[in-house]
Amino acid sequence: MDFQVKSSNIVKLKTQCAVVFAANGELLDAALELDSFFSTHSFGQPLALALSRGDLKNAAGSSTWVTAPPKSAFERVLLVNLGKFEKGKKHSSIKNWRQACQGYANAIIASPCTDASINLQGLSLELDNNTASRKAQVNELSQIATTTLERSSYRYTLTKSKADDQVKLKKITLTVANAKETTPARAAAAKGKAIAEGINLARHLGDLPGNICTPTFLFEQAKEMGKADSTLKVKALNDKQMEKLGMGSLLSVSKGSDQPPKLIIMEYNNLKGTSKPHVLVGKGITFDSGGISLKPGAAMDEMKYDMCGAASVFGAMATLIKLKAKVHVVAIVAAAENMPSGGASKPGDVVTSMSGQTIEVLNTDAEGRLVLCDALTYAERYHPKSVIDIATLTGACVVALGSHATGLYSNDDTLAETLLSTGEACNDRAWHMPLWDEYQKQLDSNFADIANIGGREAGSVTAACFLSRFTKKYAWAHLDIAGTAWNSGARKGATGRPVSLLVNYLLSAD
Ligand code: BES
Ligand code: MN
Ligand code: ZN
Repeated sequence: MDFQVKSSNIVKLKTQCAVVFAANGELLDAALELDSFFSTHSFGQPLALALSRGDLKNAAGSSTWVTAPPKSAFERVLLVNLGKFEKGKKHSSIKNWRQACQGYANAIIASPCTDASINLQGLSLELDNNTASRKAQVNELSQIATTTLERSSYRYTLTKSKADDQVKLKKITLTVANAKETTPARAAAAKGKAIAEGINLARHLGDLPGNICTPTFLFEQAKEMGKADSTLKVKALNDKQMEKLGMGSLLSVSKGSDQPPKLIIMEYNNLKGTSKPHVLVGKGITFDSGGISLKPGAAMDEMKYDMCGAASVFGAMATLIKLKAKVHVVAIVAAAENMPSGGASKPGDVVTSMSGQTIEVLNTDAEGRLVLCDALTYAERYHPKSVIDIATLTGACVVALGSHATGLYSNDDTLAETLLSTGEACNDRAWHMPLWDEYQKQLDSNFADIANIGGREAGSVTAACFLSRFTKKYAWAHLDIAGTAWNSGARKGATGRPVSLLVNYLLSAD
């Protein structure tokens, strides 16, 4: 989608759809302007009339169409409600703005329009404090508008022979009140678009079927990204190289599969001089059958999404590249397929991880932690400023938090707080879970240093405890995205979470 920012007279702007707003029961500037244009052309004030007749539902995001008279520059108006101000507040909440953006995005995409203008004049948001500058306002308004539209234009097509339901909307013009606002609006729109593109890349990779998206395919994807931008250095370790490094835990997972595993490493360094990187580690199980501890059949297809941690890492890197971000980030993707076969790991097998710790594999379906632990040990060589792993790790996390919050675990309270507040600000939220010593003994094994499962209780916590045994040398956070990475049911599809959280964290980390 193409985004432009202008401060032109909205009545004269040629567009198929002029999006204007009402908030707290009143038309905002752009809507008033269009109404006065209508009335000077003897069409009364259709927007005020629509509002007073109750054509707009109360909820933020509800909208109503008004057709423009012939020979106007704009063909139709979409009047969108921002809802009521919160009690005691003088401006619209950011939450309502998000809902409004989603509302008009859905309405325009369902319409015949191929272009639209989003008219931000007169809108103001309830930011942290009432002194928030107009620049901060314009920034938030433009970024959310852009991200929502770009994200909403995603359609999965690759393996469909008929490309039905294609998005016709191609061109968006954001209009702002004056020339001073165009610069911050442009920067925010560029950021919003880049983040949404990263989200959509993560969704695409997640939605791909397991017979296409294999560990080798993910490596090809990484190489393509490296070819397109020379700032990104890409390599991968194959099974022989991993064997040499002693990654017996990761290799025990891929043993049952015909697909060779890959440890994919992408390094993006756009800083001058020497710097230590932030490291992202993604779980890239391209299909999780459970292995010999085979999963039940119901919804097993959804285990193609078991590489969504890896997908979010790809998405975040794509966004950073697009933004030419001044950061140093190393992405490590532990890619493997978990399958049963005569060569597969069995319950009771003991494997040796790269760290030297031995692991009793009591359940071959707890494979995510087995690939991650070796990738986390490998991360030590970068002397990282921080390490964040992202993994569809446990069904137990879905039981605990559902699909709204990502489970956050960390050995560093500052890092945890930063991720929590970043997630809050960008609407990609996580919830802090305990990593207390008391849980660790659930991982005791009679035959190895550690067992790979911790029993029925607190399954998401004990999975994080397992990882914590391998992350003692750096500040580390673990994001369990089992509940947030994809939707099930009729809306089955990857969400692209937590690309936004990762990008916003990395852009502001020092
Ligand atoms: N990839 C799954 C976790 C998962 C399950 C995510 C369902 C989303 C929905 C992971 O590899 C797994 O199988 N975990 C087991 C761990 C158990 C054997 C201790 C689980 O959660 O059941
Ligand atoms: Mn599993
Ligand atoms: Zn898994």
